Amino acid sequence: MALQKLPLVGLLLLLTTVVSPARADGPVCPPTTKLSRASFPEGFLFGTATAAYQVEGAVNETCRGPALWDIYCKRYPARCNNDNGDVAVDFFHRYKEDIQLMKSLNTDAFRLSIAWTRIFPHGTKEKGVSRAGVQFYHDVIDELLRNGIIPFVTVFHWDTPQDLEDEYGGFLSERIVKDFREYADFVFQEYGGKVKNWITFNEPWVFAHAGYDVGRKAPGRCSSYVNPQCQDGRSGYEAYLVTHNLLNAHAEAYEAFRQCEKCKGGKVGLAHSPAWFEPHDLADSQDGASIKRAMDFILGWHLEPTMYGDYPQTMKDIVGQRLPTFTTAQKAKLRNSADFVGINYYTSTFSNHIEKPDPSKPRWKQDSLIDWENKNAQDYTIGSKPFTAALPVYSRGFRSLLKYIKDKYGNPEIMIMENGYGEELGATDSIAVGTADHNRKYYLQRHLLAMQEAICIDKVNVTGYFVWSLLDNFEWQDGYKNRFGLYYVDFKNNLTRYEKESGKFYKDFLSQGVRPSAIKKDEL
Ligand code: BGC
Repeated sequence: MALQKLPLVGLLLLLTTVVSPARADGPVCPPTTKLSRASFPEGFLFGTATAAYQVEGAVNETCRGPALWDIYCKRYPARCNNDNGDVAVDFFHRYKEDIQLMKSLNTDAFRLSIAWTRIFPHGTKEKGVSRAGVQFYHDVIDELLRNGIIPFVTVFHWDTPQDLEDEYGGFLSERIVKDFREYADFVFQEYGGKVKNWITFNEPWVFAHAGYDVGRKAPGRCSSYVNPQCQDGRSGYEAYLVTHNLLNAHAEAYEAFRQCEKCKGGKVGLAHSPAWFEPHDLADSQDGASIKRAMDFILGWHLEPTMYGDYPQTMKDIVGQRLPTFTTAQKAKLRNSADFVGINYYTSTFSNHIEKPDPSKPRWKQDSLIDWENKNAQDYTIGSKPFTAALPVYSRGFRSLLKYIKDKYGNPEIMIMENGYGEELGATDSIAVGTADHNRKYYLQRHLLAMQEAICIDKVNVTGYFVWSLLDNFEWQDGYKNRFGLYYVDFKNNLTRYEKESGKFYKDFLSQGVRPSAIKKDEL
């Protein structure tokens, strides 16, 4: 790929010659000579993101109840790599210190999630509310606001209360819809006066696919023909059911939000996590045509119900009876139930169409009639993949994805809720190596540039961007081995935080131009 061959010097040239034509027919970008905050439209928000389960720790404080991942990691330690026990990175005790890190980076906003198990330790209000848990999030939000940082709050980032798992199978049951609405309504009422930006669900595709179709994430369910490690589950069925319940839960939460008086002026969306796809074989028109199908399955599956009230026709045609159907009332609640499109972008892949699916072994990927390939027909890797990188780096896919969403879905407001670079340093892991993260800095430069081009040239309506993540943290099935932070966390010594090269870059990038907090509200 051309990108792979682009020498560093070429990149530097690109980064120093950004000139954004300001036009009236879309976002207005100031002309600049070097890529920085100043190259983006006025008022654009930059932040960092985390999730409760990945950073908080303190599992025995505030009467926190057991969460899905606690039990999963205990039951299957090998599938969870959690050799640090419940330590996480102790955001619970160190949030003040960490907010100072956000401030020193010159960020405007911070995306955090609320652990349901700290608010309703056993999953429902009737079984008890933890006032200490409720207070903890007040304290964090207040501290953010005091420091001029806008909170973006995720209601659910994969930590289902274990009691609901035990009682009725969590998201496998439609009973989750009522319980989720109660919980969402509670947090809206509690924090909605001061939090104006909400994400109901983080990455429904990952939650449903990794958790219930390939068994890679908790609860680790799938058919044994997909993954022999799975002891229970049914691939090709459960992921659709879980998604269906999740979407109905979202629609209920959205309705509760609209009925919440103190939430007025706020916005709600979901954070989707599509990859971008390039054709495996440029000469094969079926590979080219498969891109649209790939996007319907990975993005349209969750996005279209919240826009139009139903699943994409492609999915209905292929998945047939295995895809649940919405009632007329559910469709009506789902339609227009998101105020912006949240996108988490990490990587891209090649799409190779499948000629002969095996109907006896259904699974989501096969249903999309696509194999994901890391190399194309000419044996090129997509983008570049440094030795320690978790995923291929392909910023062109980011720009293409944003343009695709603009064109296909009528130019909605988009917020980049996550973008970042994971690496496993293995035996070389040390403060010195971990903080010299030039590959992460390069990743951020490329993706910020791709986003700037999407906004300023393609006129995509993107209004904010969050780096995943502020700190190295608990990376689900990879435990603490896979690092994503702008700050290195020394897991062996007191969880001390050290700024990485990527952190220095982001700080410098954000030090130029005008911070939105410095712009008078009526000018925004
Ligand atoms: C998730 C995060 C995760 C990150 C890196 C996203 O899928 O929202 O929780 O840590 O990607 O894998």
